[in-house]
Amino acid sequence: MNDSSSSDPVSNPAERTVASTQSEMTEIILPNDTNILGNLLGGRLMHFIDLTGAMAAFRHSRTYVVTAAMDHIDFIRPVHLGDLLTLKSSVNRAFSTSMEVGVKVWAENTRTGEVSHVASAYLVFVAVDEHGRRVKVPALKPETPNELRRFDDALLRREHREAEGARRKEERKALKALESSKTAAS
Ligand SMILES: CC(C)(COP(=O)(O)OP(=O)(O)OC[C@H]1O[C@@H](n2cnc3c(N)ncnc32)[C@H](O)[C@@H]1OP(=O)(O)O)[C@@H](O)C(=O)NCCC(=O)NCCS
Repeated sequence: MNDSSSSDPVSNPAERTVASTQSEMTEIILPNDTNILGNLLGGRLMHFIDLTGAMAAFRHSRTYVVTAAMDHIDFIRPVHLGDLLTLKSSVNRAFSTSMEVGVKVWAENTRTGEVSHVASAYLVFVAVDEHGRRVKVPALKPETPNELRRFDDALLRREHREAEGARRKEERKALKALESSKTAAS
């Protein structure tokens, strides 16, 4: 896929702050969102995470974005029917056409007011134009110590993802070779 870059300095400045990407979504958990035990479905939570993550990526790139990857998610505790779910996201680091976004999720019991952290996830979004061509994104400018820590960690996670992707590719190649040799022998 080819890269294309926006030369419009208003819609695409050289860099953006993390604060300018911060996004938030609140949902009330309804029966359609839950399993038969009345707990939020994992897939529905992933959908909310994807949407909130995309909002931060949109704010950073000011173009269309597609989800390239979602890292593993720990479901720390169940979310119940009637809870208020709040998701917050921001861009951790921008690369060439991709951005790593962090999403954190809390649930609030509407009767007791108790708020607990229920999940966190890292996602990678790729910026594309209306034809699906990849688009370069502005650099991200971390400002606070926490933003700097996330910025540094995002590079380590990218290296880990690349190494893991290469490992899976080799594994697929080896499996394919094994299948071909079995077919040839039979
Ligand atoms: C994501 C996608 C655009 C990548 O396109 P591609 O032609 O394979 O591009 P490349 O492999 O050259 O990678 C392009 C960028 O994406 C990143 N990327 C690609 N696959 C990735 C993955 N699995 N995890 C993390 N980053 C990934 C690369 O690191 C690179 O980032 P950079 O430009 O900042 O260095 C393409 O695979 C795609 O369209 N996937 C489907 C997306 C989709 O439908 N999502 C769900 C609905 S939105």
